[in-house]
Amino acid sequence: MSAPETTISEMPFSLEDSNDESVFLSKVAGRALRIAVLGLGHVGLPTALGFAEMGWEVLGADNDLAKVLRLTSGDPGFYEAGVEELLRKHLQTGLFKPVEDLGAAIRSASIVFICVGTPQHENGEADLSQVESVARTIAQNLNGYKLIVEKSTVPAVTAKWIQRTIHRYASGGNGKSSSGSHAVAFDVASNPEFLQEGSAVDNVFHPDRVVCGVESERASRILTAMYGPLQRPIITTDLNTAELTKHASNSFLAMKISFINMVADICEAIGADVTKVAQGIGMDPRIGSAFFQAGIGFGGYCLPKDLRAFIHLADSYGVDFSLLKEIEAINQRRVEVLIKKVRQALWVLRDKVIGVLGLAFKPGTDDIREAPSLRVIRALLDEGARLQLYDPKAMPNVQRILPAEEGRIRYCQTPYEAARAAQALLVLTEWNEFRDLDLHRIRELMEVPVIVDGRNVFAPEQVHRAGFEYLSVGR
Ligand code: UGA
Repeated sequence: MSAPETTISEMPFSLEDSNDESVFLSKVAGRALRIAVLGLGHVGLPTALGFAEMGWEVLGADNDLAKVLRLTSGDPGFYEAGVEELLRKHLQTGLFKPVEDLGAAIRSASIVFICVGTPQHENGEADLSQVESVARTIAQNLNGYKLIVEKSTVPAVTAKWIQRTIHRYASGGNGKSSSGSHAVAFDVASNPEFLQEGSAVDNVFHPDRVVCGVESERASRILTAMYGPLQRPIITTDLNTAELTKHASNSFLAMKISFINMVADICEAIGADVTKVAQGIGMDPRIGSAFFQAGIGFGGYCLPKDLRAFIHLADSYGVDFSLLKEIEAINQRRVEVLIKKVRQALWVLRDKVIGVLGLAFKPGTDDIREAPSLRVIRALLDEGARLQLYDPKAMPNVQRILPAEEGRIRYCQTPYEAARAAQALLVLTEWNEFRDLDLHRIRELMEVPVIVDGRNVFAPEQVHRAGFEYLSVGR
């Protein structure tokens, strides 16, 4: 595999001019500057394509050559509604160009977004090695004023570290800061991303709010000019506040889910309906109805990881935020709660054939990172069950980590195939297509008519009418 030829044309204006703030700002207003987006994953790619759609020339840089080649051929590499269309469109318009050379992308851009991955260490702490590495690459390629925007989800004070790292390495190790006579000026901003997988493209164009953490008027003006056309509220803060807003936002969402899941358990214990309770409390505008779907818990790459990172941050500053730990503990227990229901219906699980509908961590994506379904599947396999799995998008990803195995794991082409001869059918992701299933047909196909619905996809009366034993969550 060889690197594609990355011909990055001359900047539309001289980088020497870039230190002149008024020239820079007028170029921002006219989108006559180039943006570099470093890291082309679930955040970086929709972000880069969003800016291209807004008329910016965007270099998407990623040091994974296979990814760059794939993107160049028009394949995003993951499923996200609208991304492939935008990718193909802007490869055509030339406004989006995937490149492998981060340094070249940085040199020829004036605004640089950091969207690299921030995985986590065993102890929940964020692994910031990729962020640190791109900060050094930025430092080594500073050839004029640049605004460096941190978009990856990172613990508070990371932007300060990016700033410090760029100062340190930009001055060739002599410690001269950008305010020093020979150093090149730059600003670091924190602009956390709030996009949700499954609706990422829509979120890019219609964010609920744009949070801009800045330390200079210039950075604030540039970001305001960039996001102004979206006509959404812009909240300008300092760097740490912007980063903390992201921590707090994801942790609050996680708290709502764990809260409603515990309410669901109480509903089951006393005979009440959690969907009605959620409706009843959610209509209070002080509470809000979003993120009140009881189920098998939250997964994905963000909520679980960000919650752990926030716990780690609070601990490392000596702040006793034990509420966060309880949110996580409740979430961990959700899978066991579901498995208990399966046992309640089937008694012994060994050699039972169980159909599973839904593997992605949520609908609208093929992402299975920290998907609760995987934990359910592993628990069922540990008990000796035989599984027939189906998901509209995520099966190839699951197959890579759990290959088909005679008598244990079978991948099915349709939900009906997953139900065939099964003694229970589990719903683990609320894909819309499951809501429209022909339950009578499923009833005919199954050996024992049991549905364990981990996402409350069906109305109980509807399932009972079709002749099923039905266990759902909190009702
Ligand atoms: C989350 C946040 O919602 C975004 O605002 C944020 O930008 C993103 O993380 C990020 O940090 O990058 P995402 O990971 O795409 O977005 O997923 P969510 O839509 O938040 O769903 C997370 C999990 O919670 C899913 O497993 C979902 O099934 C579960 N969930 C969600 C529930 O169990 N109940 C609900 O009511 C809502």
